[in-house]
Amino acid sequence: MVDDAGSVNERRSQRFVRLAERDINKETYVTPWAEAGLTVTDSPYDPMPSLRIEDGRVVEMDGKQASDFDTLDAFIAAHAMDLSAAAEAMATPSLSIARMLVDINVPAAQVRRLIDGCTPAKLVEILRQMNVLEMMMGLAKMRVRRTPANQAHVTNFAENPALLAADAAEAALRGFSEIETTVRVAPIAPLNALAILIGAQTGRGGVLTQCAVEESLGLRLAMKGLTTYAETLSVYGTERAFVDGDDTPWSKAFLNAAYASRGVKVRFTSGTGSEALMGHAEQRSMLYLEARCLLVTRGAGSQGVQNGSISCIALPEALPAGVATVLAENLLASMLGLEVASGNDALASHSAIRKTSKLMLQFIPGTDFIFSGYSAVPKRDNLFGGGNFDAEDFDDYNVIQRDMQIDGGLRPINEAEAVAIRRRGAQAIQAVYAACGMPAISDQEVEAAAYAHSSDDMPARALVSDLQAAQAFLKGDSTLFTVIKALHEAGFDEVAGNLLEMARQRVAGDYLQPSAIFDRQFQVQSAINDANDYEGPGSGYRLSGERWQEVQAIPQAKAPHDFIQDRQGTAIKGLVELGQARVGTQTEVVIAVSPAFGSTLVKTIEGLDHHDVLAALLTGIAKEGLVARLVKVYHTADCGAIGHVAATLSGSGIGIGIQSRGTTIIQKKGLPRLSNLELFPQSPSLTLAHYEQIGRNAAIYAKGKNPDPVAVKVDNTARLRLIVKTALLHRHETEHVDPNQPPVEMLFDWEPDFA
Ligand code: 5AD
Ligand code: CA
Repeated sequence: MVDDAGSVNERRSQRFVRLAERDINKETYVTPWAEAGLTVTDSPYDPMPSLRIEDGRVVEMDGKQASDFDTLDAFIAAHAMDLSAAAEAMATPSLSIARMLVDINVPAAQVRRLIDGCTPAKLVEILRQMNVLEMMMGLAKMRVRRTPANQAHVTNFAENPALLAADAAEAALRGFSEIETTVRVAPIAPLNALAILIGAQTGRGGVLTQCAVEESLGLRLAMKGLTTYAETLSVYGTERAFVDGDDTPWSKAFLNAAYASRGVKVRFTSGTGSEALMGHAEQRSMLYLEARCLLVTRGAGSQGVQNGSISCIALPEALPAGVATVLAENLLASMLGLEVASGNDALASHSAIRKTSKLMLQFIPGTDFIFSGYSAVPKRDNLFGGGNFDAEDFDDYNVIQRDMQIDGGLRPINEAEAVAIRRRGAQAIQAVYAACGMPAISDQEVEAAAYAHSSDDMPARALVSDLQAAQAFLKGDSTLFTVIKALHEAGFDEVAGNLLEMARQRVAGDYLQPSAIFDRQFQVQSAINDANDYEGPGSGYRLSGERWQEVQAIPQAKAPHDFIQDRQGTAIKGLVELGQARVGTQTEVVIAVSPAFGSTLVKTIEGLDHHDVLAALLTGIAKEGLVARLVKVYHTADCGAIGHVAATLSGSGIGIGIQSRGTTIIQKKGLPRLSNLELFPQSPSLTLAHYEQIGRNAAIYAKGKNPDPVAVKVDNTARLRLIVKTALLHRHETEHVDPNQPPVEMLFDWEPDFA
């Protein structure tokens, strides 16, 4: 380490050594560089907003004359803006529009009318006025669909069809409304699409599916009926990036129309960072380029977008305000009336704290799809770039929904349900493979898939044969109806029925409405019949009723009674009440126990028998050569008060107070109540050896000497683990309090087993 004076200093701060090892310091951070596009919202080269319209045509936009327009400018000017609203929109101060976005008294439609007339630079200027909290408020209002939803990734490194179907079935049961797969090896695409289609329809009818592959293959899969949505129609914010992608805004619009004409839902993909990554940022800020992408998306007629940086997320995250800008791009998409699948898909951080913090920006306001790909498989099986949250985070996610009373689109399920639906999904794809003459899926594979976590849990399978079958399937005459027939004949009527209904829905086309998904009744839920009507408290989507019950019911939650049942019992052996306790005169230690101790509660919070605890205390006292008396306190359950009684009754003035849960105090007569000789508030850390030492120390104090205080280990998690139990045990104890009953002398009939 080199210090300020430039000399080498070998000595390291242990604090900084430890910090350097933290996950957050495995990330990359870079200082902004506008010339390379490495700036998030405010490049000095970003244009100022401007718009001139002559004869109904845009002749100048954002400081550029029509004659200088590149293809994106031309496309946006011709197709993406509502020119009838433009004059008013451009004349309204950006700050006023930003405030309208946050203001609960301004309905979404009213802001959107102005937004529709804004140029890309104007949109960026509006967003630059807003902090993260304000953007979240804006997103809650501008999100298109009222009910938030979630999208899953289902892939595996082995490209195993039984595992794909099983994972898709589980993901559907967990509540995902869309499930997508992709490939490690491109030619397998048709079979992967088939596996998640069948798996998803096994888990729940109406889940939309897609397979992310190169665009012409993606279209062929859709035509064959193997997918119901398409999402990876990538758009970029500069012409050069578009050209490198072999595309133009017009070709994207054409592709969009091709999908829609066959009843396939379409969402474009864009997001900050892609242009800088491709070396074609043209010195513009990431948000400005994203504004252009989003206007192209709208101009091309797509109903929605997957944005939030997506595969490029680590790049904005390397920059200051990068995470805030990702929220800004999600909000911008919503402002434009686009359904937004808001990222959180590719692995965005090594740090659990950072990735969760980032998630909150979309999770709390809610978006149409909070993740545009929650990895419903473990990260290492995710072929989309890791998965920011994955299958190992399911319980965390369910708990966060429950904590905040927020609908994040998922629900808790139990192990038996999961295994059953996984098996059913794997059996269904097994039946289809058999009927279509594809390489057999064995019963052993089906069972492995039912219980698997990852592809490591699956038997090996010959990928080469599956690849050949995939190509034959794509080229051959089999269609979705071949598959439906096979399922029906093999007895999978419900799955077959769901597939048939999906086919019927493709013809009906209702799910081409903006932001459409199917609810659990197989009904379309979209911006038309489920429009977001958030206008502040008491409006918009609320997690309530049955759905809230479902989110609450995590299998880990126990009934209060279950926490303390095993601590209750019948009175411990040898403990007898004698009569009202008296004040002693000898050199003794008095042990005072709480009202329920040893009578209706018989174990400490960590499960030590009250009998053994008393024996340990008495042994400790006896080993110091003193006698002990035992009393029971009825008028209070408070540990300090019980200790005070013990000391007051003790001939030596030294007493031990103990509660049923095990909390213990050594007290001396005359000390103020809230003061003490030794207090052991962390009862779960106390062992029988500790109790014996507590007895010993009390006796040493009684003899007028000062022992070393009993050393107890500090366990910071004890309270976390045990606070419910603590509260319930204490409540039980207080129920046995009788304010009018004085302390009672007790006999504990127990023989020490030492000489
Ligand atoms: N901009 C445009 N397209 C993107 N994709 C991912 N991130 C972006 C982005 N920031 C597309 C790519 C990728 C697919 C998963 O999504 O085409 O293959
Ligand atoms: Ca996605």
